Amino acid sequence: MRVEADGIRIGYDDVGEGEPLVLLHGFPLERRLFAPQLRALAGQARCIAPDLRGFGESTLAPPVSMDRYADDVAALLDALGIARAVVGGVSMGAYVAFALWRRHPGRVRALLLAGTRANADDEAARARRQETMALARSRGSGAVADQMLPGLLGVTTRAERPEIVRAVHAMAAAAPVEGVVAALGAMMTRPDSTATLATIEVPVLIVVGAEDTIAPPDVASAMQAAVAGSRLEVLPGAGHLANIERPAAFNHVVSDFLDAVQRRGGRAGALE
Ligand code: MLT
Repeated sequence: MRVEADGIRIGYDDVGEGEPLVLLHGFPLERRLFAPQLRALAGQARCIAPDLRGFGESTLAPPVSMDRYADDVAALLDALGIARAVVGGVSMGAYVAFALWRRHPGRVRALLLAGTRANADDEAARARRQETMALARSRGSGAVADQMLPGLLGVTTRAERPEIVRAVHAMAAAAPVEGVVAALGAMMTRPDSTATLATIEVPVLIVVGAEDTIAPPDVASAMQAAVAGSRLEVLPGAGHLANIERPAAFNHVVSDFLDAVQRRGGRAGALE
């Protein structure tokens, strides 16, 4: 599906009924990352997965920042008539979820933070982003996909699940170069969200793959310690993209979390 919002065209999936659950993809991917969640959770939640600006079917218009991506998500919720949603982000998607919480806290019913970190890039990380930008410009998204793949997937998946390796590589290689460069710029200038963690007043589930080397379990555990009442799930046999590497285990913990959020009560969903 597509909608014009926030000055761009946003491509998105919207399946199922119930508690709205917005799923925000990581870099350099797109909403198809969440196919296993849409299949499994549509019976329990209204699952909405947008392509972030410049990826998939969403068009790109500068400037791009985590705040801009977050405003796009708020505009999509407006367009769909949704007041509040459980907001889930994988890696860069969670950087966007932090920005959404800062800018539009009333739209966030609960947060799911997967394979991510709160701190900003340091100097070395920013230098690596510049190198990746140069690689994208000179050799295209396929070269960026080649470079990133070992970090995106855990050792178990890389050894045992060639179909997942192929699917993730294809998704990354298909990303528009301009969207990739814009996202790298947005990530390298993103604010530190460490102080944001202590401000979160909604239920939080943190998920990490035991084999994640980009945002490893010790980073997830430190985040969990900083968010009062949050829950941490470490999924064995998964790397950075636990949702696609161990979909059944990932969906199970998310499903339990959605149940807990619903039991907590309160009306969510349609705009009054
Ligand atoms: C992602 O998966 O979105 C990226 O690895 C995040 C990052 O590079 O900081």
